[in-house]
Amino acid sequence: MFTRNRRLRSNASIRSLIQETQLTTNDFVLPMFVMEGNNKKEAISSMPGVFRQSLDLTVQQVKENYALGIKAINIYMKVSDNLKDNTGKEAWNPNGLMQTAIKAIKDAVPEVIIMPDVALDPYSIYGHDGIIKNGKVDNDSTLEALANMSVSLAEAGADIVAPSDMMDGRVLAIREALDEANYTDCGILSYAAKYASAFYGPFRSALDSAPVDSQDIPEDKKTYQMDFHNSREAITEVLDDVAEGADIIMIKPGMPYLDIVSKVREIITQPIAVYQVSGEYAMIKAAAQNGWLDNDKVLIESLTSIKRAGADMIFTYAAPEVAKLLNK
Ligand code: PBG
Repeated sequence: MFTRNRRLRSNASIRSLIQETQLTTNDFVLPMFVMEGNNKKEAISSMPGVFRQSLDLTVQQVKENYALGIKAINIYMKVSDNLKDNTGKEAWNPNGLMQTAIKAIKDAVPEVIIMPDVALDPYSIYGHDGIIKNGKVDNDSTLEALANMSVSLAEAGADIVAPSDMMDGRVLAIREALDEANYTDCGILSYAAKYASAFYGPFRSALDSAPVDSQDIPEDKKTYQMDFHNSREAITEVLDDVAEGADIIMIKPGMPYLDIVSKVREIITQPIAVYQVSGEYAMIKAAAQNGWLDNDKVLIESLTSIKRAGADMIFTYAAPEVAKLLNK
């Protein structure tokens, strides 16, 4: 035997010398759920440790998390039913909850990067990311809504808008609208390869944003989000979004899609974001609560594997607790 692979594993010091991937708090983007009111905090039952919070508590949290090293957030609004319609127009209300939240967070912690989600689902009576026309999710009329929403979020102070809707041509439509409104410095993180995934379940219950059950509209998001049987299509989506002007591209969900992450990493030079989604988080938490998995070790391992596959940044609900572990 000339090669003994175990030599370089024989103690912690030698292992640390050859370690290829290190997880740090610089890698994290924390998704947060905001709701109306004051001093309000509601647990999300399928996401232990994650809460819907009113803006005052959210701002407090952003401050505390910034001190832990979390420098970027992605925010979602719980929109009350009376503000929902089929146009999504509440999404670009200059005094809407999202716009108010961005301003308040930027006032309190100007250094934090805010990447609000751009899609109509929390604002849609149908729970779809786009406008419904003749029983279908209509691509081209949705583009205008997404562009309006993006300009409104940039105006409120968003650093980067994050379209998650999967309409064709939306990155270009948003880029043109932002530039025309003089928000040339507002970036675009596009959810380029977003799969129609059952792993989004807990998120949709957190926002009450699941597609509604009705004969007249599609029951799921498969006409715009990608089919999980495919991988080449992800490359097409990513290259389209890069060509349209995306600054950062996202692949989502995370762990079940690391083959896609590693393929895309070989092809593009732009930064890649990966989303460890609500269902992935829920699985880890449920097993940990049952004593079946070691919570801390599995979180670190799952996030490191996402980074090893090629992610430059990871959206994860576990960011605060993992930051505490890493800072120890
Ligand atoms: C909305 C959106 C979703 C997620 C992020 N943005 C849900 C969906 O597309 O139905 C999922 C995030 C998660 O599950 O953690 N367009």
